Amino acid sequence: MVSFDITGKVALITGGASGLGYKYALELLRKGAKGVTLADVNAEVGQKAIEEIESEFGKGKAVFVVTDVTSSEQFEEAFKQTVANFQNVDILVNNAGILNDGIWQKEVDINVNGVINGILLGLENYIPKHKSGDEGVILNISSIAGIVPFACLPVYTGTKFAVHGMTLAWGLPAHYERTKVRVIAVGPGVTQTPLITDMKNKNLSSEYEKIREVEVSQAVPQTTDQIAPHVMRIIEKAPPGTLWIVEGGEKPYQYVMPDRHMLENKIYLD
Ligand SMILES: NC(=O)c1ccc[n+]([C@@H]2O[C@H](COP(=O)([O-])OP(=O)(O)OC[C@H]3O[C@@H](n4cnc5c(N)ncnc54)[C@H](O)[C@@H]3O)[C@@H](O)[C@H]2O)c1
Repeated sequence: MVSFDITGKVALITGGASGLGYKYALELLRKGAKGVTLADVNAEVGQKAIEEIESEFGKGKAVFVVTDVTSSEQFEEAFKQTVANFQNVDILVNNAGILNDGIWQKEVDINVNGVINGILLGLENYIPKHKSGDEGVILNISSIAGIVPFACLPVYTGTKFAVHGMTLAWGLPAHYERTKVRVIAVGPGVTQTPLITDMKNKNLSSEYEKIREVEVSQAVPQTTDQIAPHVMRIIEKAPPGTLWIVEGGEKPYQYVMPDRHMLENKIYLD
């Protein structure tokens, strides 16, 4: 395991104005981060988040930048403002995401293209150039839906599998060795945020809605306060290209994809 000190580091968090992203921002500051940028489409909630951060940590620790992650230009502006405000950028948390298969093109655009925008800007440009220490981190937020398919949400499931696939590819030594940026992912289990409290009618059709009622009803959500400290440990310790699941408020476990050459019981088609 690696050892990365969050103290003095600068983080850019997409979707950081509320929900899980906001909790990651608070936890980073509690661990001594120099500053955080909340990059989010929701300016009203973003400004409120900044006021709350200032009342807990004082002025100058957080900035809000109106950012739609689907726009590479807006995403780049968030990086530029981070460097202008805090001189560095060490950590990108690709957290912005929506759950709504009813508007699946937008869902794919945010959950997949938004993550790609962040990785291209963060890995290929801003973090290697502006990190304050030996290495930087890109933490992609996937989901338990990135390892377990949900019949009611096939597109959302696909977007989170995509986040895992990109983390595995960009986490390979070929990229870490040239950039010194650890690309890692965490897949939260069901967590109490607006994303899941309002899941009704966010499916492809009423048939999918019926499936959702059966499929999702048993889940007991963890709280955002439970998961955020675990996510800090993942930022500190996870090797590049590793995938971590945090569910039920329990400590993170690594999800390892099977190596096809090691499969003992291959199932052949007759
Ligand atoms: N809550 C859960 O149960 C859960 C479980 C697994 C994974 N996740 C993932 O965690 C991440 C955060 O989810 P959450 O539960 O905090 O959701 P949330 O809805 O509470 O917060 C999402 C934030 O993202 C912002 N956002 C939406 N579209 C954006 C865009 N185009 N550009 C920038 N910001 C945008 C919203 O304004 C909001 O502040 C998502 O990627 C989600 O898929 C959540």
